[in-house]
Amino acid sequence: MSVLIRGARLYGEGDPVDVLVADGLISAIGSVEPPEDAEVIDAAGQVLLPGFVDLHTHLREPGREDAETIETGSAAAALGGYTAVFAMANTDPVADNAVVVEHVWRRGRETGLVDVHPVGAVTVGLNGEKLAELGTMAKSAAGVRMFSDDGHCVADPLIMRRALEYSTALNAVIAQHAEEPRLTVGAQAHEGEIASRLGYAGWPASAEESIVARDCLLAQHAGARLHVCHVSTAGTVDVLRWAKNRQGPGFISAEVTPHHLLLTDERLATYDPVNKVNPPLRTGGDAARLRAALAEGVIDCVATDHAPHPVQDKDCEWAAAKPGMLGLQTALSVVTETMVATGLLDWRGVARVMSERPAEIAGLPDQGRPLVTGEPANLVLVDPDAAWTVRGAELASLAANTPYEGMRLPGVVTLTLLRGRITAREGKIG
Ligand code: DOR
Ligand code: ZN
Repeated sequence: MSVLIRGARLYGEGDPVDVLVADGLISAIGSVEPPEDAEVIDAAGQVLLPGFVDLHTHLREPGREDAETIETGSAAAALGGYTAVFAMANTDPVADNAVVVEHVWRRGRETGLVDVHPVGAVTVGLNGEKLAELGTMAKSAAGVRMFSDDGHCVADPLIMRRALEYSTALNAVIAQHAEEPRLTVGAQAHEGEIASRLGYAGWPASAEESIVARDCLLAQHAGARLHVCHVSTAGTVDVLRWAKNRQGPGFISAEVTPHHLLLTDERLATYDPVNKVNPPLRTGGDAARLRAALAEGVIDCVATDHAPHPVQDKDCEWAAAKPGMLGLQTALSVVTETMVATGLLDWRGVARVMSERPAEIAGLPDQGRPLVTGEPANLVLVDPDAAWTVRGAELASLAANTPYEGMRLPGVVTLTLLRGRITAREGKIG
């Protein structure tokens, strides 16, 4: 079985070409006559990119299968153009041991819509006190190479130092949710003018920036790789620029979420907890700096922080609501709106921030590869001129907590291929 993608523009550049996919690989590029068994896809006017890689997804299984399962989350990923996702460890039980990471990895394989790479917890139970068995998780069938207590900060500098030191022997990366917990006790929203006016307890930018600065220094001392999750402030961009200059390439990387690129704390005025997220939505000035930093490469990549929550955890008063928003199916469109439509990135740049850099950071050899003959056919086809209206109820996730409800967004994923197999097509699975 082969697939012939007809008339797509690779990275949105140059003349349209045909791309033949057979045996899981890109087998020909140019003007190609369809083999007899080929499924032919008309891709006129569309952009072909390497499949997206999400370093930050909450799939909720095991434990909160009322919010999302590996199956529904994988479907959302495939529909969003992803061919690999990293499943965060804050499940129940926590993915802090080989049994749980192997379970997640195996369920991902069985589902087969996207490569599911479990992230291992840094500390036992995510409680920040005792290092989890990173080595056992690395050596397990899941081959864990990214560790994070995401949802919680590894706040103790000695534990963070030990985790960074240990990770070097495992060729792993520590992904930090940067939030100094002593500065965010009771915090409900970005500490600023809007939160004070509305009476929300504040989450100051410095709670993120101080941890990022500390961790960059610790990583440098350990010669380790640090990945900064969901950068949300202009000050963190300054810290990252300083640290990257000081340390040279390959040690420090950072991600930004689509929602921090587009949405701001003006959303607080809605009082709608769909807008509650951690770190919180920041100011318009922060968002502008994040967009510029992503274009420039100070922030390496986009990661969704896809965080499904069932209706009872979101449809309540702000203070009681859980933080987090859906992201997998809307990421490409939000990046199109904030980065492509504004001229900050071209499609080659989108491939860099949504596929190539995340694959490099996570050390995936078969993702984010160049679109040339002989490479694995992990691909996404995007219609750059189409637009769609987001409806939470129609998304593949079990939960519906999208902050983009009713918004019309540009950029539509029309086809996703995982190792040559169609995983999503025209908004449907398979
Ligand atoms: O908004 C968030 N939701 N931020 C996190 O760090 C955790 C996540 C979740 O698990 O819901
Ligand atoms: Zn987080």
